[in-house]
Amino acid sequence: MMQLLTIFKGKTWRRAPGKVNMKKLMMAAAAALVLCGCAQKDDNTLRMITEATFPPYEFLRGQEIVGIDVEICRAVAQKLGQGFKCETVDFDSVIPAVVSGKADVAAAGITVTEDRKKNVDFSIPYVTTGIVVIYKVAEPYTGVESLKGRRIGVQAGTTSETFVLEQVGQEPERSRSPAESVAALKAGRVDFVIADIDPAKNCVKNEPGLALSDFVSSESYAIAIRKGRPELLQVINETIAEIKADGRLAAWVEQYTAEADRLKD
Ligand code: ARG
Repeated sequence: MMQLLTIFKGKTWRRAPGKVNMKKLMMAAAAALVLCGCAQKDDNTLRMITEATFPPYEFLRGQEIVGIDVEICRAVAQKLGQGFKCETVDFDSVIPAVVSGKADVAAAGITVTEDRKKNVDFSIPYVTTGIVVIYKVAEPYTGVESLKGRRIGVQAGTTSETFVLEQVGQEPERSRSPAESVAALKAGRVDFVIADIDPAKNCVKNEPGLALSDFVSSESYAIAIRKGRPELLQVINETIAEIKADGRLAAWVEQYTAEADRLKD
């Protein structure tokens, strides 16, 4: 801002030496303030936050974050007539990012829970799913009892973590991604892994020694935003209804499941 003011002042001095036009100077100062505000938060860009180790919802294609959630949020940005950008952070930082205003929309295969509803508003759900146990074929999962006292890998901050704490009644072994937990399972550092079914399926692809249980929970994914943004929430809900109805959502599920599976070949 100082720089802008200095430039303006310079021009004023050149045109009318000795006389500073105070009104123009004040207007320039106001304009500079507005410009600075824009630099901090560009109102014309929808900022998505995610955690991109969760195929097919979000994963990396080289350096680019792609997946079903990215397409959904891009469609929201389009409907708003805004630009779009997406960033990835650890999963337990995804919801805090919309609460603090660092991002506008959190989309990361986020399960709607009563606890999270205290901190954010959720859109209507866009998928019904759940979590499963990933086990070694040599040591099958036979029910919650078979998990007790064993080392159970989960991605930190997820509903799988809550499941271990509340349903199994013990501390899990936390990791930064479902794939990292599965690597620990293969290396013998944990005995079981719990994760959402779609990334779990991707993890066990081409792993004949690993298998998946039936669902151990029923969950639905929705987009989370900071509380008190009803206009944004409405556009998100309209977008979700549209992409469900016109087949775009189903097409993205198919496209990104196939792409993420190919990355495992
Ligand atoms: N659905 C689970 C939850 O909300 C796991 C989500 C993990 N998402 C991710 N992008 N890593 O806790």
